[in-house]
Amino acid sequence: MQKLPLTEVKAGMKLAKDVILEDGRILLLKGFTIKPRYLSKLKAYDVPFIFVEDEIVELDEISEERVYEDAFTNIKGIMQSIRYDEKVDIVQLKETVNDMVQHILNDDMVFMTLTGIRDIDNYTFLHSVDVCIYAVVTAKALGMEYDDIYELAMAAILHDVGKCKVPLSILNKPGKLTTEEFEVMKRHAISGLEIASQLPGLSEKIARIICQHHEKWDGSGYPLGLNSYDIELGARIISIADVYDALTANRVYRKRFMPHEAAEYLMANNESQFDPRIMKCFINSIAIYPKDIVVLLNTGEVARVLPSKGMASMRPKVSVITRKDGPPVFDPYEIDLRKNPTIFVVDIIS
Ligand SMILES: [Fe+2]
Repeated sequence: MQKLPLTEVKAGMKLAKDVILEDGRILLLKGFTIKPRYLSKLKAYDVPFIFVEDEIVELDEISEERVYEDAFTNIKGIMQSIRYDEKVDIVQLKETVNDMVQHILNDDMVFMTLTGIRDIDNYTFLHSVDVCIYAVVTAKALGMEYDDIYELAMAAILHDVGKCKVPLSILNKPGKLTTEEFEVMKRHAISGLEIASQLPGLSEKIARIICQHHEKWDGSGYPLGLNSYDIELGARIISIADVYDALTANRVYRKRFMPHEAAEYLMANNESQFDPRIMKCFINSIAIYPKDIVVLLNTGEVARVLPSKGMASMRPKVSVITRKDGPPVFDPYEIDLRKNPTIFVVDIIS
C-alpha cells in the first residue's frame, strides 16, 4: 500500500482505503479500481492524496470506461460542431456506437454503473450516452436483430441533436421555460430530423426515430401527435429511456427522483405515455440500482448495492458499510430491501 498525491494517481490503480470527505461523506470505497472519471471527481472534491494498492489493473479490464468516454467525447464534439456550423464527421461516432452495442450484447450490465453521471455543463451529452445504453439494453431484451439495434443506438445517441438549433439562452435557462420558450424547445424534434437527414451515412429510419422521440403512446406527444404503433419502435424505446434518465437528474426547478421513484413514475404512466410491453421490458432489463453504487438509507445507514437487475433492483440487497454520522462498520452486514419494506434509499452517495 502506498500514499500518493492526486497528481501521481493513475487509472487502473486500486484503492487501499476508503476516500472520505471532511464532512464524513464517502466518496469512493476501498477495493474500487480508479477509473478515469474518478480522477476528475477526486480533483473536484480537492482530495489531496489517496492510499492505493501496489497492484495495478490492466486498462483493458476497464475498456467499457474508455468506450463510455469516447461516446461522450464524440457526441459532444458533433453537437458542438453542428451548433457552430462547423464540418461534422460521424465516422468515429459510428465506430464507438458499434463498440457500445457489442459490449452490451456481450454483457447487458456492462455500462450500468457508469450511467447517471451528472455534470451540469455536460448534461445533454452524458444524457445522450445514457439513453443510448438503456435503449440498447432494452432492444437486446426484446430480441431485436443486430442491424436494428445498431440503428436504434445511433438514433438514441443523436436523439437530442436538434437541440443544437435551440438558443443557448433557452437550452441553459436556469428555471422553468415559459410557454413560448417551450414551443421553441419542442422544435428540436423537427430540427433533429432535418439535421440527421443531412448527416452522411444515416438512414431515413434513424432520422424518423429521432423526430418521434417525444411522441406518446396515447397520441398526446409532439411534433405530430402520432399514437401507438404509428410511432417507430425505436422511438417508443428511446422515449422511455429518455424520461427515465431525465427524471433521475437534478433540475433547478425540481429535485431529482431516486431511480426507484423514476421507475415507479414510468409504471404509473404505463399505457398513456409509453408502450406498455416495452416499458415492462425496460424495467425488467436495466439495473435500477446498479451494483457497487453507494446509497444512503432512511435508517441513516450507508450501504453498497449488491448485484441485481430488473424489478429486483428497485429494492436490491445492500451491504451496510457505515452510518451517515458514525464510524465505519467493520463487519458489513446485508439488508434485503425487498424483505424490509420500511427501509428505502433516500440518496445516492457515489
Ligand atoms: Fe428530446
